[in-house]
Amino acid sequence: MLSLQVASTIILGALAASGLSAAEPIEARDVYVPRVTYPHAGTVWYSGQRHNVTWDNSNPPATISNRAYIRLRADNYETPIVLARDFDLRAGRVEVTVPPVITGDYSIVLFGDSGNWGQDFQIIGVLDSY
Ligand SMILES: *[C@@H]1O[C@H](CO)[C@@H](O)[C@H](O)[C@H]1NC(C)=O
Repeated sequence: MLSLQVASTIILGALAASGLSAAEPIEARDVYVPRVTYPHAGTVWYSGQRHNVTWDNSNPPATISNRAYIRLRADNYETPIVLARDFDLRAGRVEVTVPPVITGDYSIVLFGDSGNWGQDFQIIGVLDSY
Protein backbone atom coordinates (compact mmCIF):
# COMPACT_ATOMS: atom_id res chain seq x y z
CA MET A 1 0.00 0.00 0.00
CA LEU A 2 1.08 3.56 -0.66
CA SER A 3 1.58 5.79 2.32
CA LEU A 4 -0.91 8.64 2.57
CA GLN A 5 1.85 11.14 1.92
CA VAL A 6 3.01 9.41 -1.26
CA ALA A 7 -0.58 8.96 -2.42
CA SER A 8 -1.43 12.61 -1.89
CA THR A 9 1.78 13.67 -3.64
CA ILE A 10 0.81 11.56 -6.65
CA ILE A 11 -2.71 12.96 -6.65
CA LEU A 12 -1.48 16.56 -6.33
CA GLY A 13 1.08 15.96 -9.07
CA ALA A 14 -1.60 14.46 -11.30
CA LEU A 15 -3.90 17.39 -10.66
CA ALA A 16 -1.15 19.88 -11.41
CA ALA A 17 -0.23 18.06 -14.63
CA SER A 18 -3.80 17.82 -15.85
CA GLY A 19 -4.86 21.29 -14.80
CA LEU A 20 -7.93 19.90 -13.06
CA SER A 21 -9.30 21.79 -10.10
CA ALA A 22 -8.83 20.12 -6.72
CA ALA A 23 -12.61 19.76 -6.45
CA GLU A 24 -12.74 17.31 -9.36
CA PRO A 25 -12.52 13.72 -8.15
CA ILE A 26 -9.51 11.81 -9.44
CA GLU A 27 -11.67 8.68 -9.80
CA ALA A 28 -13.38 10.35 -12.73
CA ARG A 29 -10.55 9.15 -14.96
CA ASP A 30 -11.28 5.42 -15.16
CA VAL A 31 -9.22 4.00 -18.03
CA TYR A 32 -5.47 4.34 -17.64
CA VAL A 33 -3.57 3.95 -20.91
CA PRO A 34 0.03 5.04 -20.44
CA ARG A 35 1.97 5.85 -23.60
CA VAL A 36 5.01 3.66 -24.36
CA THR A 37 8.09 5.88 -24.76
CA TYR A 38 10.84 3.26 -25.25
CA PRO A 39 11.52 1.31 -27.42
CA HIS A 40 10.56 3.66 -30.26
CA ALA A 41 11.21 4.08 -33.98
CA GLY A 42 14.94 3.70 -34.62
CA THR A 43 15.56 1.46 -31.58
CA VAL A 44 17.48 -1.75 -32.27
CA TRP A 45 17.48 -4.56 -29.72
CA TYR A 46 19.35 -7.87 -29.87
CA SER A 47 17.99 -11.17 -28.59
CA GLY A 48 19.32 -11.91 -25.13
CA GLN A 49 19.87 -8.27 -24.14
CA ARG A 50 18.16 -6.70 -21.13
CA HIS A 51 16.36 -3.39 -21.62
CA ASN A 52 14.00 -1.12 -19.76
CA VAL A 53 10.67 -0.66 -21.46
CA THR A 54 9.47 2.81 -20.40
CA TRP A 55 6.15 4.62 -20.54
CA ASP A 56 4.68 7.94 -19.55
CA ASN A 57 3.68 7.59 -15.89
CA SER A 58 3.16 11.30 -15.28
CA ASN A 59 -0.59 11.09 -14.67
CA PRO A 60 -1.43 7.85 -12.84
CA PRO A 61 -4.81 7.21 -11.21
CA ALA A 62 -4.97 6.76 -7.43
CA THR A 63 -5.68 3.06 -7.84
CA ILE A 64 -4.96 0.64 -10.67
CA SER A 65 -7.15 -2.41 -10.60
CA ASN A 66 -5.76 -4.60 -13.36
CA ARG A 67 -2.48 -6.48 -13.37
CA ALA A 68 0.00 -5.04 -15.81
CA TYR A 69 1.74 -7.05 -18.49
CA ILE A 70 3.73 -6.49 -21.66
CA ARG A 71 3.29 -8.45 -24.87
CA LEU A 72 5.40 -8.48 -27.98
CA ARG A 73 3.67 -7.46 -31.21
CA ALA A 74 5.13 -8.48 -34.59
CA ASP A 75 4.14 -6.24 -37.51
CA ASN A 76 0.37 -6.22 -37.16
CA TYR A 77 -0.37 -9.08 -34.84
CA GLU A 78 0.11 -9.67 -31.15
CA THR A 79 2.35 -12.61 -30.42
CA PRO A 80 1.68 -14.79 -27.36
CA ILE A 81 5.07 -13.75 -25.97
CA VAL A 82 4.84 -12.11 -22.54
CA LEU A 83 7.90 -9.96 -21.85
CA ALA A 84 6.95 -8.88 -18.33
CA ARG A 85 4.02 -9.21 -15.94
CA ASP A 86 2.84 -8.20 -12.48
CA PHE A 87 4.90 -5.00 -12.30
CA ASP A 88 3.78 -1.60 -11.02
CA LEU A 89 2.36 0.52 -13.85
CA ARG A 90 3.16 3.63 -11.82
CA ALA A 91 6.91 2.85 -11.97
CA GLY A 92 7.14 3.96 -15.60
CA ARG A 93 9.59 1.22 -16.51
CA VAL A 94 10.21 -2.50 -16.30
CA GLU A 95 13.23 -4.54 -17.29
CA VAL A 96 12.73 -7.18 -19.98
CA THR A 97 14.93 -9.74 -21.70
CA VAL A 98 14.73 -9.68 -25.49
CA PRO A 99 13.51 -13.16 -26.49
CA PRO A 100 15.04 -15.37 -29.21
CA VAL A 101 12.99 -14.23 -32.20
CA ILE A 102 13.42 -13.97 -35.95
CA THR A 103 14.94 -10.65 -37.00
CA GLY A 104 12.23 -8.14 -37.88
CA ASP A 105 9.99 -5.28 -36.83
CA TYR A 106 8.25 -5.51 -33.48
CA SER A 107 6.46 -3.27 -31.02
CA ILE A 108 5.60 -3.39 -27.34
CA VAL A 109 2.02 -3.70 -26.10
CA LEU A 110 1.55 -2.42 -22.58
CA PHE A 111 -1.57 -3.71 -20.85
CA GLY A 112 -3.02 -2.00 -17.82
CA ASP A 113 -6.68 -1.15 -17.91
CA SER A 114 -6.40 -1.29 -21.67
CA GLY A 115 -3.80 -2.21 -24.27
CA ASN A 116 -1.58 0.41 -25.83
CA TRP A 117 1.27 -0.26 -28.23
CA GLY A 118 4.42 1.70 -28.92
CA GLN A 119 6.22 2.50 -32.15
CA ASP A 120 7.73 -0.18 -34.36
CA PHE A 121 11.37 -0.94 -33.63
CA GLN A 122 13.79 -3.63 -34.76
CA ILE A 123 14.95 -6.78 -33.03
CA ILE A 124 18.05 -8.47 -34.41
CA GLY A 125 17.11 -12.00 -33.54
CA VAL A 126 18.65 -15.46 -33.56
CA LEU A 127 17.57 -16.17 -37.17
CA ASP A 128 17.07 -14.06 -40.28
CA SER A 129 13.73 -14.17 -42.04
CA TYR A 130 13.77 -15.39 -45.61
C1 LIG B 1 16.78 -0.05 -15.89
O1 LIG B 1 16.61 1.14 -15.14
C2 LIG B 1 17.10 1.06 -13.80
C3 LIG B 1 16.76 2.36 -13.12
O2 LIG B 1 17.17 3.45 -13.87
C4 LIG B 1 18.60 0.80 -13.85
O3 LIG B 1 19.09 0.67 -12.54
C5 LIG B 1 18.86 -0.49 -14.62
O4 LIG B 1 20.25 -0.69 -14.76
C6 LIG B 1 18.24 -0.40 -16.01
N1 LIG B 1 18.39 -1.67 -16.69
C7 LIG B 1 18.90 -1.76 -17.91
C8 LIG B 1 18.94 -3.12 -18.50
O5 LIG B 1 19.31 -0.79 -18.54
